[in-house]
This record gives sequence, C-alpha cells and structure tokens, in this order.
Amino acid sequence: MDFDLVVKNGFIVTAAEVHPPGLEIGVKNGKISCIGVGLPQGPNTKVIDAEGGYITPGGVDSHVHLSQRNCPTGDNWETGSRSAIAGGTTTIIAFVSQEKTNDSLIPVLRDYQAKSTDQSYSDYGFHMILTNPNKTILEKELPMLAKEEGITSVKLYMTYEPMKLSDRQLLDIMTACRALGMTTMIHAENSDMIDLIIERLEARGHTEPYFHAFARPQLAEAEASYRAICLAEIIDAPVLLVHMSSETALQHVRAAQGRLLPIHAETCPQYLYLLSEKLKKTEDDHYHGAKSVCSPPLRHEPSDLDCLWQNVANGTITTFSSDHAPSKYNVPGGKRLGLINGIPKFTKIPNGLPGVETRMPLLFNRAGRIEQGNRITMPRFVQVTATNPAKLYGLDGIKGSIAPGYDADLVIWSIEKENGVTITNSMLHHDIDYTPYEGMTVKSWPRYTILRGNVVWDRDNGGLIGKMGDGKYLKRGKGQILNGRTGNPVKGMATGEREHWA
Ligand code: URP
Ligand code: ZN
Ligand code: ZN
Ligand code: ZN
Repeated sequence: MDFDLVVKNGFIVTAAEVHPPGLEIGVKNGKISCIGVGLPQGPNTKVIDAEGGYITPGGVDSHVHLSQRNCPTGDNWETGSRSAIAGGTTTIIAFVSQEKTNDSLIPVLRDYQAKSTDQSYSDYGFHMILTNPNKTILEKELPMLAKEEGITSVKLYMTYEPMKLSDRQLLDIMTACRALGMTTMIHAENSDMIDLIIERLEARGHTEPYFHAFARPQLAEAEASYRAICLAEIIDAPVLLVHMSSETALQHVRAAQGRLLPIHAETCPQYLYLLSEKLKKTEDDHYHGAKSVCSPPLRHEPSDLDCLWQNVANGTITTFSSDHAPSKYNVPGGKRLGLINGIPKFTKIPNGLPGVETRMPLLFNRAGRIEQGNRITMPRFVQVTATNPAKLYGLDGIKGSIAPGYDADLVIWSIEKENGVTITNSMLHHDIDYTPYEGMTVKSWPRYTILRGNVVWDRDNGGLIGKMGDGKYLKRGKGQILNGRTGNPVKGMATGEREHWA
C-alpha cells in the first residue's frame, strides 16, 4: 500500500512522550495509518521533511466564539477558522447561544448551522449555551442534541444579566447533562458581588477601562467556582470551570480533584501572559485599555501569572483554550462602544479577546525541557492543547493524538534560527484590528498545519492554502471524565443519604 503522505525527520510528541527523529508518520485517506521506521514511499506519496522540528497533534480549541450576537464586530466562521488553521489549530468547538427569549433551541441551532456550514477552514463542533432552560429543553431537546446532532456539552453562566442562571437552574441542567453523559462548562463569577462593586465604582466616577479589573475581583471567581463545585458534588455531576484566572479558585478545584470529584478546569493564554496594566490608557490613546477587557479580567500581579503556569504544569488545569471572543477596536459597535460621547464607561465594552491563532504558539513558547527553563513539558503541551479537550468533549479516537486510526491532524513547528517570531496583528488571519500580544516574541510558529492529511497552512510557501469549506462538522460522542470519578461519597452526608432523593 502506498501512503498518501509520509511525515519524517521530526520529534513526534504525544500526551505521553517525545519520540526521537527516525519515527515516521504514514497517512492514508486522511487518517494516520502507521507510525514506523523507514516507511515505504510510492510514486504518489507526498513527503514532508520536518527538518528536526517538533510534530504535535493539530490543536483542539474547545472555547471559541464565532458569529455570536453579543460580538457583532467579531469573527465569523470564515475568518475565525482560517485564523485557527494558521496558528496550528485544526479543530474548534464554538458556541450556539440561546437567548433568554428562545423557548426552543432548535431554531437557534439551525441559525448557527446556516452561519457555519461550508464556511469553515477547520473541523468544528458546537457547544450549546443555555440561558433559559425549560422542561422541554431539558427533557426532549438536550437528548435530541446529544443523539442526533452530536452536541454533547453545554456552557452555563453564573454572571452577566442576560445569561446568568440561578443555582437551582444550574442544578437542574447538571442533572440532565449527567444523565446524558454531556459535559457541563461553567463561567463562574459571583454576579451580585460584581454588581455591587460596579455601582460603587460608577458613583465615584471610576468608569475607565482599567476599573474593569477592579470590578471582578478574584474573590468573585473563587466564590462562584467553589459554589459550582458544591452544586456538582451534591448531584454527583462532572463539570468543567472555564477560563480560570485565580489562585483561590484553582485551590478549590485542586482540593476537589484530590477528593476524586470529577472537576475539570480550563485556562487561556491571556491568564498566563497579560496583566491588568494592559487596561490602562496610553499616552496617545486614552481608551487603549478597552482592547484588553475580558472576563474574568486580567489580574494584577506577575505572581498571578506564575500561579496559572504552575496549575497548567501540575495537572490542575485540564485544558487550554483561547476563549477567542473578539470585537474590533476602532469600528462602530466594537470595543469603543464603552466610550459614550467621549465619556468612558467600561461596563459597555464588549468582553473578550482575540486569540485563536496565537493560542498554540504562546503555550509552545514555554514548553520543552524543564531543566532548560521551560514551564511545561512537551507532552503536557499536547495534553492540554489537543488530547485532553478531545477526550473531554467526545472526540477521543478521532482527534487530539498521533496514533493509528486518528485523523491525520498535525502541526510541524518551525525551527527559528534567529530570535524567534515576533507577533504582529498584520501577520494574523482573524478579522480583528488588533492583537493583545502585539510585539511579543515566541520561539516558534507552525511551519505546517495538516488537516486530515492535507497541508492547509504552509508558512514558507503560500501561507494559508486550505480553503473555506475544508472543515467538517463533527458530531461528538460522550465526553470522558479525565480526573476523578462519579459515585464518590459526599462529605458531610450519611452513606446512602443521597439515594433518598437523587
Ligand atoms: O470576556 C469574555 N471571556 N467574553 C466571552 C464570553 C465568555 O464569557 O466566555
Ligand atoms: Zn465565559
Ligand atoms: Zn468564552
Ligand atoms: Zn427516604
């Protein structure tokens, strides 16, 4: 048999190890069919020489917002997914977002399908944001989504007036998801604490973007995270806390994981690299800070960044996503929405940062041998950028690993001879007029991105060579519990107590 593609002469990295060069990847019909030494090459076999670079699985970015109503100046499927490909991400999971006025999820889903079908460069799936769960949705529509549409995860908000759910609603949804084997993602911030602080800040005229970081303190994230964990524990449901940014919140996660509760955590590049000083004005742009408004907000101290790196390294963080939720800066309806007749009001700035393209290079930047000053190992990089999100969201066996039978989604990393790659917005493929990482230098960038055996990004020869519509919709299966287990005894409950009502 002739392979369609052989990738050779690179360090293949999996979630478990770094293989020395010599091992080659043979691809047939878009799948990895064989990993071996000296693979045969036929007349029609394309050969890619990795030239001694690292070869990792294509990235799985499980937190991406595209064509959402609350980011009207953000990316759509075309621009967001091409940006993903150029940054080494071959699979994105984006959101279908219910509005509180939608009594059924089906028209909403059809709307998002119309916005994405044949418009994606990368493979993609959907999560469902639930803002108004009714009986029909919980009992009929969620099972239908899981079974017919392969949508096996929901995102729930504990904050933001138009989206937030009560604790009882959270419990009811978690219960429904548990029964269906769906993954429940939670945005955990205490809404009332934030309301109160905003009211007081506004009364004192503190309405500049910088005060966004004061309005949503770490304690608000810690309280809501612990509450979400308690809610999950009492009904014995697995949950994933998204975009975590705070030490105390992560300590709650770690303690829960230590007790084998099935609690997962996600963080994002901004919480490893950026601080609240980004929210300040600059000499030439009074409103510059608006570009860096996201929630949870950027934290204040370098030690906050250290803490996050440590939690990626020590296993508390299960998955590393971009939370790509951009809005343009200098257009009507974009980030400057918070500048009303020249008067700033940070509460009106659309939340979220661009980052789907820079996610992989920013984490790869500090991956490698620990004794050489890196923060995480190469296998850990692969775990959190590809293998874990694939397993967590029901793509195991298809995405996220370099092994026979898996889709041949690969990234071959560049070897930079000089001083690395300096990020500028002009080199990125999103449709956003800035990047928060402008001027930052990373050690490498994807030299090639390969989607199901096809080169879709070739940095040195044509750049983006994949096409819109190359990306396939992924019907996902049930997620796996990657840490902990269900069926744990509840602390403070008598043995068998839960059986009286659960
Ligand atoms: O600031 C953020 N992250 N906005 C995007 C929506 C969300 O909460 O994930
Ligand atoms: Zn969120
Ligand atoms: Zn988000
Ligand atoms: Zn009883």
